[in-house]
Parts: sequence; C-alpha cells; structure tokens
Amino acid sequence: MQQEPVVRLQGVSKIISSRSLVSDLTLDISPGQVFGFLGPNGAGKTTTIRMMVGLMSISKGDIFISGHSVKNEFEKAISQVGAIVENPEMYKFLTGYQNLVHFARMSPGVTKERIAETIERVGLAARIHDKVKTYSLGMRQRLGVAQAILHRPKLLVLDEPTNGLDPQGIRELRDYLRLLTREEGITVFVSSHLLSEMELMCDTVAIIQNGKLIDVRNLRDEQGSDALMEVAFEVNDGERAVQLMEGEAVNQGNVIVMSLSREQIPEVNAKLVREGVQVYGIRTVTRTLEDQFLQVTGGGGIE
Ligand SMILES: Nc1ncnc2c1ncn2[C@@H]1O[C@H](COP(=O)(O)OP(=O)(O)O)[C@@H](O)[C@H]1O
Ligand SMILES: [Mg+2]
Repeated sequence: MQQEPVVRLQGVSKIISSRSLVSDLTLDISPGQVFGFLGPNGAGKTTTIRMMVGLMSISKGDIFISGHSVKNEFEKAISQVGAIVENPEMYKFLTGYQNLVHFARMSPGVTKERIAETIERVGLAARIHDKVKTYSLGMRQRLGVAQAILHRPKLLVLDEPTNGLDPQGIRELRDYLRLLTREEGITVFVSSHLLSEMELMCDTVAIIQNGKLIDVRNLRDEQGSDALMEVAFEVNDGERAVQLMEGEAVNQGNVIVMSLSREQIPEVNAKLVREGVQVYGIRTVTRTLEDQFLQVTGGGGIE
C-alpha cells in the first residue's frame, strides 16, 4: 500500500508583481527518506520552502503536510514541521544545552529525556555544555537541527544546509540526516544547488529550474536488482551484434550498449556467443544523476 505522502505540493505557484517565481509545482514526498530539492541559484527553492513553512503566502494551489492544508489548517500542518530556513535564533552567550532548554519551554510536551535524546541524535553530546559562541558552523547547525526536531515533527526542512560547511562537515551532515530518518522516522527535505552533494545525500531528488519542476528521480530503487542499467558489450562485430539484438542495442564502434536488468546480462552474452560474435568485455555503465540531469535539461543550468 502506498503510504500517505508527508508533503504534497498541489499546483503550487508564487506570483509577485505579475512575475512567476514558482509555477504550478506538483509533487508528492513519501515518508522516511532524505528528499533533495535541486536547482541552480534563483530557481525558486527558497521561495517554495518559505511557502511550505508558512513564511510566505501561496499564490495558487496548496501544500499539504501529513494531509493538512497549509492554507486552511496552518496550525495542524506546521505542528508536523521542523525547519531551518534562515539562520536559527541562538543565544551565543548561552550553552547549547541552555538554548535547547529555553526553546523547549516554548514547545509543550518536550521532556528532559527528549532533549538528551535529541542531543545524541545530532552528535552534540561532547560539546553541549559549551557556549554556542565557541561552536563551529557545523555545530551551530546541529544545534539548530536539534532545536527543530525537539517536538518530534514528521518533516525536517533544511534550506541549503551544506552552504559554508567544509567537506568533513558535509559528510557528518549526511550521516546524521540519514540517522534521523532511520531512528526518528523523520522525512528530511533539503535544498541545494550542488548536484554532487545531493547525489550522495538523497534517496530522491526533484529538479527545479526557473520555478518549474523538470524531473523527479529516485536514486535508490534504480540500483535495485530488477532495475535496468546500461550495459556495454565489447565485441568484434558491432553491426552484427546490433542486428542480433533486433534494434534493442546501439553500436558505438564495436561496443554495443543496451538497457538490461542484471538477469538479462548473461542471456545476451550467451546469445552473442552462440551466434558467433566474439565478446571481449562486458561492463555496466552507471548513469549518474549528472548524466540524467543533462539529458533532461539538454545541458547547462546547474553546477
Ligand atoms: N520576495 C521576493 N520578491 C520578489 N522576487 C523574489 C523574492 N524572493 C525571491 N525572489 C526572486 O525569485 C526567484 C527565486 O528565488 P529563490 O526562491 O530565492 O531561489 P533559490 O532559493 O532557488 O536560489 C529569484 O529570481 C529571486 O530573485
Ligand atoms: Mg535559496
């Protein structure tokens, strides 16, 4: 059974002085994953996020969080969300712990145990009693995430969380976001303009350009065993090999390339050999998100 989406964008548009910043976005995000929102600067990522968390009105369409309309049931919808959109408010002269306790007072039902658990989740235990002014950017961000998830939201929204982090910090972010989806069952929505980071961090990526959704890719299932992959066979006679495959393959100079499931690879190999074609090599050609992105957009537009 299909689970109810954590987030549903239904024909969402943002129009400011007759200019469309976001146009007719429709998208379902299923629970328990890290979902990436990828697009070049100015694509409309922050605008979409601001509408999701109620920092900006929705011009057309609606957004549903766990089934609750942001337009009509804002309190219910927003109670399911934790977010860092602008820099989180922190008291730099207080410790991380004091900040969390202060924040917890404003969210009903957050216990001392929950605070301790949250600190563990984001890996801040060793430094939580130090003053925030001594924290690195990555540590401040962890504290921001801890604060955002104290009330156990179903959705965590982070706008460009890798900005300003060093490679080590980005790696740690990736790891603890993964942990949050696993241990807290939370769905994480992250935006970025960096393709390579999204590829490593996310289970699904939606690509946005000029305010329009151009593609949604599942990056995990495609690696499943019955998924199709591009397979290249190096042969002595590419033309004959392509004929044998009845148009299912393309010849690239005695290397034929076709889309196959894992099980089909030995079958194709056997057929080639049976028909007298010499096979010198077989390799799978992994298509990266970048290849896919270039294919979808016809190139350009993203780093
Ligand atoms: N409040 C606003 N008023 C008018 N234009 C805006 C406003 N906020 C953003 N924009 C414009 O909307 C477009 C999308 O911006 P934004 O959502 O910030 O993109 P991203 O986060 O993907 O870089 C940009 O062209 C930006 O200049
Ligand atoms: Mg932005």
